[in-house]
Amino acid sequence: MSESTIHGGSTLPGSVDRASTPPSLDETLALMRHIVEHPVSARYSPWFSTYYADLTGREYLGRYVRFLDTWLAMLGRPVAGLEILDAGCGFGIMATLIALRGGRVHGLDCHQGMIDTFRTYLDILPDELPITPQVGDVAAMPYEDASFDLVLSHEAISHYGDVDGFFREAARVLRPGGALLLSDSNNALNPQVVRDTWQIWRAFELGPAGAQVHGHTIETPFIDQRRDLLIQAGLAEETAALLAQETSGLWGKQLFEAAKRYQETGELPGRVYRDGQCPIDPVQGYYIERLFDPRELVAALCAVGLRPSLRAYLGGARGGLLAVANALLTSPPLTPLALRLARAFRIVAYKPSSAPSQRSSGNTFSKEDNPVGPSGGGNK
Ligand SMILES: C[S@@+](CC[C@H](N)C(=O)[O-])C[C@H]1O[C@@H](n2cnc3c(N)ncnc32)[C@H](O)[C@@H]1O
Repeated sequence: MSESTIHGGSTLPGSVDRASTPPSLDETLALMRHIVEHPVSARYSPWFSTYYADLTGREYLGRYVRFLDTWLAMLGRPVAGLEILDAGCGFGIMATLIALRGGRVHGLDCHQGMIDTFRTYLDILPDELPITPQVGDVAAMPYEDASFDLVLSHEAISHYGDVDGFFREAARVLRPGGALLLSDSNNALNPQVVRDTWQIWRAFELGPAGAQVHGHTIETPFIDQRRDLLIQAGLAEETAALLAQETSGLWGKQLFEAAKRYQETGELPGRVYRDGQCPIDPVQGYYIERLFDPRELVAALCAVGLRPSLRAYLGGARGGLLAVANALLTSPPLTPLALRLARAFRIVAYKPSSAPSQRSSGNTFSKEDNPVGPSGGGNK
């Protein structure tokens, strides 16, 4: 095994081995410590240190890796050698783990600060990994048609402003026989998830700053961000505070246009926040954890010509009984029941290898045996 020395004297498996042997947990831990503790970490976005619960903790990282490996297993083949897009890659830790499994990964995210951090730590890795981070919108991807074998979206779809646009783009950039793999924990079929999410939404919109709500830390509530943006644009504090209340869900140019209209006509925008509305980040324009009925996503994927298969995900990355329950309850006949109990869902959607009306012609990556959705029956 060829090895490279990393910060702290530990080792990282060399590129020669990646395709056949994923790194051990010890090697992955050493790499995460290298990323987190290296002096260049002073240049990371401040958000990086709170974004992952505990990247250098064995228990957390072990769970994260097991989660990733069970998710990727839905493909039915290894990721080594595949051209992969991580759509909404954030800080890119998952993309990095996939590159360590031999995938050639492109990371796309609209958040400049996250991509900058990703690039900063890639530069200090001892062994060059096949990863290309890029700023961009998943609904208008900067890639040629048929560029990827696999498009991934992990906990990201609930933040996209234009999910249909993302599906169209994913179908375009996938090669015939390639697959889109989705994972999200905003399952609107589970009533507890809906209750928790409404509380998260309210806190993101109205605060208070510093609140901890179901694993989220509220930094500056959106209503306060809108007020501050309007004050910076020259409005008096009182007017800015009034308009901040009246402009829930507006962002960027829309916010300033609404303020201008109010100043010209006295007409209030009338968008006071109501419970059950998913707030939108006033600067970046992304949603905070939209809820999805995953069966509707399945229908939308069929509409762009992909062949989706839906599974509930009850958890189990820690192993033990939950992993067994997950394996039993998420089998296709039990999926409708499991979707009411699970917080999360996973979808794998294949792009047909040939004309949509024909079956797969033996491409080992194409797995069209259990499509669900309007035309596929099965798990609806
Ligand atoms: C909850 S994070 C998940 C990040 C990463 N997939 C992970 O698992 O750590 C959601 C990400 O989606 C990104 N995002 C939201 N809308 C996007 C869009 N339209 N285009 C690209 N990225 C987007 C956000 O910037 C954010 O990094």
